[in-house]
Amino acid sequence: MLPSSAAASPIRDLRQFYTDSAEIHGLMLQLLGDVSGKSVLEPCAGRGALVSRLDGSPSRLDAVEIDGRNIEILKLYSPPWLNVIHADFLEECPTLGRSYDAVICNPPYGLRPTPEYRLALRHRYPDLYVTESYGLFLCLGIRSLVPGGRYVYIVPDTFLTSHNLRPIRRFLLTEGAPTHIVRFSATRFQTVDFNYGRLCVIAGNRHSLANEDAVAWIDEAPSERSLNSICFDASSRVSGTYLSERTEAGWVQPSKIAAINFSCPSTTLGEIAECRTGLYTGDNLRFCGYNRDRPPARRLNGQPIDWPAEVHLNRLDVKEREHGLTGNKRFVPLIRGGCRHPFAETRWAVDWSGEALEAYRQKGKARLQNRRFYFRRGLAVPMVSTGRLSASLMSDAVFDQGVVGVFPHNEAWLEFLLIYLNGAFVSNTVKPVLSPGANNSANYIKRIPVPWVGPAGLEEARQIVEQAVIDGWESTAQMREAFLRRAHANEPALFAFEEAELPEGSGKV
Ligand SMILES: C[S@@+](CC[C@H](N)C(=O)[O-])C[C@H]1O[C@@H](n2cnc3c(N)ncnc32)[C@H](O)[C@@H]1O
Repeated sequence: MLPSSAAASPIRDLRQFYTDSAEIHGLMLQLLGDVSGKSVLEPCAGRGALVSRLDGSPSRLDAVEIDGRNIEILKLYSPPWLNVIHADFLEECPTLGRSYDAVICNPPYGLRPTPEYRLALRHRYPDLYVTESYGLFLCLGIRSLVPGGRYVYIVPDTFLTSHNLRPIRRFLLTEGAPTHIVRFSATRFQTVDFNYGRLCVIAGNRHSLANEDAVAWIDEAPSERSLNSICFDASSRVSGTYLSERTEAGWVQPSKIAAINFSCPSTTLGEIAECRTGLYTGDNLRFCGYNRDRPPARRLNGQPIDWPAEVHLNRLDVKEREHGLTGNKRFVPLIRGGCRHPFAETRWAVDWSGEALEAYRQKGKARLQNRRFYFRRGLAVPMVSTGRLSASLMSDAVFDQGVVGVFPHNEAWLEFLLIYLNGAFVSNTVKPVLSPGANNSANYIKRIPVPWVGPAGLEEARQIVEQAVIDGWESTAQMREAFLRRAHANEPALFAFEEAELPEGSGKV
């Protein structure tokens, strides 16, 4: 019995994000082309926004939809070629066969199936990545095509660069060669506000991508030009080789890569620093505490504690770090996720008693990960930041899994990295290329390009930070940006170092 609504489905929320945008429909239908006489599939037909606008009359169009209310609306269209199928496409797909000439789809994004259903999907499609729904709908739609068949989808752009979504890129490379990628701001979708900042219309054919293939790749994200006035000329094309070589690292437009390639010597953050995520206690309400007299602005799970009486603020010795604190002061300072001022003092602490450590080791959900980096001097970069990337100093503290701890191999880099990671270039130019979503996982952070300044540059950065400690971080804003501009401009004084000091592979990202 199929659900008449989301409430009855094994999928908790059907993610029914409809768009009325004529330019999006227009672009998708243009890329699909004339479907006269063809067999077409719409795996998530909704209320028929796409099937009702096709160019030409197909021989047959299978419109699959899970929601009974939409089925009633779809049945109001009455062309003889329309075959409305009330089904869960994720279940029905194998029975539909691989017989379609074309598939067009606006699938659900970020679907949340019940855990049992997700497990069933894993069993049914062991070779596909089932965790992101739009990717599964995309891959299954492509697999429903005859060899060479045409597909057009509108999906979030996260598959282009996300580390976790590499399986989608690999699939496209081997089974669904893209011919067109058009990226644009999600505001063009008009009707909804969801967690994806950018969307993408992707079109292609069911076969593997050949090195000599040309893929038209247009980025309209920063522009307001109508999607229907796009010109897919030679300047927008990248080769199959270009995409296949970047399948693991992420698909980034050549012009964007050029913008983050420095004229000065450069390296990546992962080359010069350890980038690690931290502790998850498994039960933050029980194990985390906040200063009850000066509560943090952002409320997260935790208990109010008497800071002077319960938090151990002195440096821990080796035994205490390994086996935990004894005595009344059982908490140590904790850095949690979220944007922090570069010099902020934390108002959070975590239970570091022997019993608590035992619980972190034993507890199913808890993760006592990367503990050799706890208490070290480094930078805290919040894992999630919708706006700019930020970094703050931390030392003698534990950091949680909402933070990527950045620990330079050479501590002399700390101040330079504090300035650089808080600078406009990283947020405005690097972040959108490496991590277009809100998530700054350790994998993205490691790939941030860094100018490979010499000792003189590091010393100047140290002096600026020293001044910022005295005068305040904000008051040094101009000085910091001017310093970074000089570094980007490859000012010789900042790069005075011996050739032998350059890391292997420096100079390119
Ligand atoms: C984003 S809407 C798009 C609908 C339509 N293609 C359009 O452009 O207006 C996604 C549709 O997929 C349907 N849907 C969600 N999960 C589904 C599933 N497992 N099988 C078939 N349809 C599904 C939802 O009910 C919704 O109507």
